[in-house]
Amino acid sequence: MLNKSDPNWWKQAAAYQIYPKSFQDTTGSGTGDLRGIIQRLDYLAELGIDVIWLSPVFASPQVDNGYDISDYRAIDPMYGSLADMDELIAQGKQRGIGIMLDLVLNHSSDQHPWFLAARSSRDNPYHDYYVWRDGEPGKLPNDMKAGFGGPAWEWVPEVGQYYFHQFAPQQPDLNWENPKLRRELYDMILWWMDRGVEGFRLDVIDQIAKEPDRFITGNGPRLHEFLRELSRETFQKGCLVTVGEAWGADLERARLYSCPDGSELSMVFQFQQMVLDQQPGKEKWDLRPLPFVEMKKSYAHWQQGLHGCGFNSLFLNNHDLPRIVSRWGNDSTYRVESAKCLATMLHGMEGMPYTYQGEELGMTNIRLPIEDYRDLESLNAYRERTEAGYPVEEVMASLYARSRDNARTPMQWDDSPNAGFTTGEPWLRVNPNYRQINAAQALADPDSVFHYYRKLISLRKSHPVITQGDFTLLEPEHPKLFVYRRALADQELLVVCNFSDEETPYVLPEGWETAHCLIENYPARTDGTLRPWEARMLER
Ligand code: GLC
Repeated sequence: MLNKSDPNWWKQAAAYQIYPKSFQDTTGSGTGDLRGIIQRLDYLAELGIDVIWLSPVFASPQVDNGYDISDYRAIDPMYGSLADMDELIAQGKQRGIGIMLDLVLNHSSDQHPWFLAARSSRDNPYHDYYVWRDGEPGKLPNDMKAGFGGPAWEWVPEVGQYYFHQFAPQQPDLNWENPKLRRELYDMILWWMDRGVEGFRLDVIDQIAKEPDRFITGNGPRLHEFLRELSRETFQKGCLVTVGEAWGADLERARLYSCPDGSELSMVFQFQQMVLDQQPGKEKWDLRPLPFVEMKKSYAHWQQGLHGCGFNSLFLNNHDLPRIVSRWGNDSTYRVESAKCLATMLHGMEGMPYTYQGEELGMTNIRLPIEDYRDLESLNAYRERTEAGYPVEEVMASLYARSRDNARTPMQWDDSPNAGFTTGEPWLRVNPNYRQINAAQALADPDSVFHYYRKLISLRKSHPVITQGDFTLLEPEHPKLFVYRRALADQELLVVCNFSDEETPYVLPEGWETAHCLIENYPARTDGTLRPWEARMLER
């Protein structure tokens, strides 16, 4: 177990993301709940993780699955009670697993009492907790668009004004310019810290300092000022791990966010690799093949750029991204090999690895008829793009590849009905491949993706070169191989991954022929080729 009273404990830690709605149902309601997570803590302890990033479980109308919070200090009854949360925190601690709550501080639900008060009158003290502009019905303050489609402005006749929302209309943006609002948020965070949570993930944190009059959403001028205040007033009073979601982060900004002086956050989620397989400047639905060489160089840029002066988060999946084995791997013939290969590539790097539920099983994307999708972003995109004249097959193909519901299908626990997720009707369909791909099978098979992840996570703890070494990209122009070296004093690590369905010739660099293999995804062989999706991690 890590010593969590050391302020830098998280630098050795591994995290696991739970999307509670799809993790484990204990009531037959068809949606997961906190007691389900408690039940599965031993499974997570076996995987070896130190922190659970728990997607929002606060009271919410669930327009965006909890990313629309109506009470930051209450648990949604669908998930259980505050007592269940206290028990989850306590039971987690016993196993060395901390809870990292997902705070949505950029916006609230339109059902939050603050917003209900704010929209009742311009004189209400809460009015200024949100972002309002004068206008007339039908004459919007400007033509900014919202993240999930449609305009970013919504008219409220009671006050004769528009409010600003970067996401759905039911997610009004909070006004961070207002110091009282900021204080309320800080008090709420301190209240959760008192309950024993060990960290926070901060939803779309780079969008809090918006200035809609100047068309600014991300990276507003006051962003880092706000973050330093937030950190000083809250996180710095404990030994927490914090990670901000920052789609707009480049390396320079990430250095500010994750500055080792602790003045802002521990790290950010940046998405520069994750947008490479979409057409530049277009929407996420406009796909293009992954530019592999560019992807490798981008990782190298971040590994080298934050070494010693910031901190990386390492992830290939989350609740907003498609399943990586379907995206960058091969989810049919080489599902197991490619899932392990991708994991090796990521887990050999410096930073904090986040495993998203089911990733450790090699869970795949799903194809659903349109009426079975549940995600509002997917449904809006389907409507907007078919209306804009895109052929239905093309729109469906982009949903199969990119819909957020790919990641949100229920966790596959065993081969019983509904994969052991629920005894009721699941809120989103279970992937029919659960009979082959499930946790019970994976636990029983020593060669499973699960046991491979377990081993990767434990290697990070026993090998300081993984957590602290510097990074050199080898074979940078090779179109199929991802090879890199890590070095710390006299310790060296070599990671070799064949990102292809073909056998690929490869000769180890001089001096590595006899190196010790820490982990590999095929039986050992040394004939100068790498098998499809073969991956090895060597040390010397
Ligand atoms: C973040 C969340 C996503 C949510 C959005 C709006 O990107 O990860 O799930 O829809 O913010 O809160």
